[in-house]
Amino acid sequence: MLKRKWMFGLVLVLIGSMFLAVGCPDPEVEPDPDPDPDEIVLTVAAGAVGIELELTHDLAEMYMDENPDVIVEVIDTPDSATERLSLYLSFFEAQSPEVDIYQIDVIWPGDLAEHFIDLYEYGADEVVDDHFPAIVENNTVDGRLIGIPWFTDAGLLYYRTDLLEEYDLEVPETWDELEEAAQIIQEGERVDNPDFWGYVWQGDAYEGLTTNALEWIDSNDGGTIVSPEGVITINNQNAIDIVNQAAGWVGTISPDGVTTFAEEDARAIWHTGDAAFMRNWPYAFALSASEDSAVTDVFGVGPLPAGLAGTGSATLGGWQLAVSTYSEHPEEAADLALFMANYESQKHRAIEGTMIPTIMDLYEDPDVVEAHPWFEDLFDVFINAVARPSTATAPNYSAVSEAFFTAVHDVLTGEMTAEDAFEELELDIQDVTGLEIE
Ligand code: GLC
Repeated sequence: MLKRKWMFGLVLVLIGSMFLAVGCPDPEVEPDPDPDPDEIVLTVAAGAVGIELELTHDLAEMYMDENPDVIVEVIDTPDSATERLSLYLSFFEAQSPEVDIYQIDVIWPGDLAEHFIDLYEYGADEVVDDHFPAIVENNTVDGRLIGIPWFTDAGLLYYRTDLLEEYDLEVPETWDELEEAAQIIQEGERVDNPDFWGYVWQGDAYEGLTTNALEWIDSNDGGTIVSPEGVITINNQNAIDIVNQAAGWVGTISPDGVTTFAEEDARAIWHTGDAAFMRNWPYAFALSASEDSAVTDVFGVGPLPAGLAGTGSATLGGWQLAVSTYSEHPEEAADLALFMANYESQKHRAIEGTMIPTIMDLYEDPDVVEAHPWFEDLFDVFINAVARPSTATAPNYSAVSEAFFTAVHDVLTGEMTAEDAFEELELDIQDVTGLEIE
């Protein structure tokens, strides 16, 4: 909360100072008596989930060492992708040059393309083939490369190896098995620890809930909200059934408060050893394995459970680096973005922070393999992750997602059944997109 307020303040200050700069010169700002004409300041708006921000600072330092004429400033942005988007939109509305590089979500290129330069015009063609083609394609809008892939993401199941052993259970492969195992472990652990929960995940009304709910629905053969061909499919029985099932977890195997949880809220409970299972992204691995974690060497990670589809689904996440159209230094900013997404930079973030690389060769890099052999085990999960319908609904994806996560949230909090919520939702999505309903 503190952080949110701080961010909001930052926007006001930045936008305010911009208007000041344009409208009336600020008498209090002393001009630098000896400005270095060659010095350029580049500002990167970056995520701060877990240790993400520290890792970005590392890259900024590395770049400045190699480029003494450039000062890289890193500003942190809200953890919630939904709030981060609102912040970015306020910068775009003001056509603000204050931020040169934005860390953008894999779902945003279609909605935000106009605010970013084409990196193909700044040397990206030389490196783009090193990255997963599907992400490059995702980031290409009308032939323009909107963002250079930085790291990819996929939803994973974290489980406690010690507790599975203690209760003589296997890693759950279906949602029903997860429910059962969570229940058994929770009951047993509660004897000594009243704060213990079976399963923690992301249930707040924000983009993270869209990713969780898409995993339930896709793994239950319930489609992807809107199909890749642009047909609205959400109002179907398999989708309804699994979301009703998930609503049954709230207050039973998951805390009531899970409907206000984002990634770091779920991780906080897991980190102190108070949960048997957690749904989260790969970044949580490095932190769970860190010295101050209660689960350091008693956890494992694998694919999420399956429903009717027979195999689990992982929502495709991940972040790109994009250069603002309103930057005063597009060339230098593009150079920095390409540096931050290059082999060595991604390697550093992969080893230290388990941020999953988008450069394919890194999966065979001996240092990466040695540090995180599980990258290879889960390679198929990463490359087969299910995409949110951001391309099919562009430039209205965020509105579609908001309608979706609001509807799912209403079901989780018991305000509506999934039957009623999805009947309304398909009409809302039609209103927003003009697409056909199946
Ligand atoms: C992760 C994913 C991103 C997703 C977000 C939702 O940051 O990488 O794609 O939108 O989580 O909370």
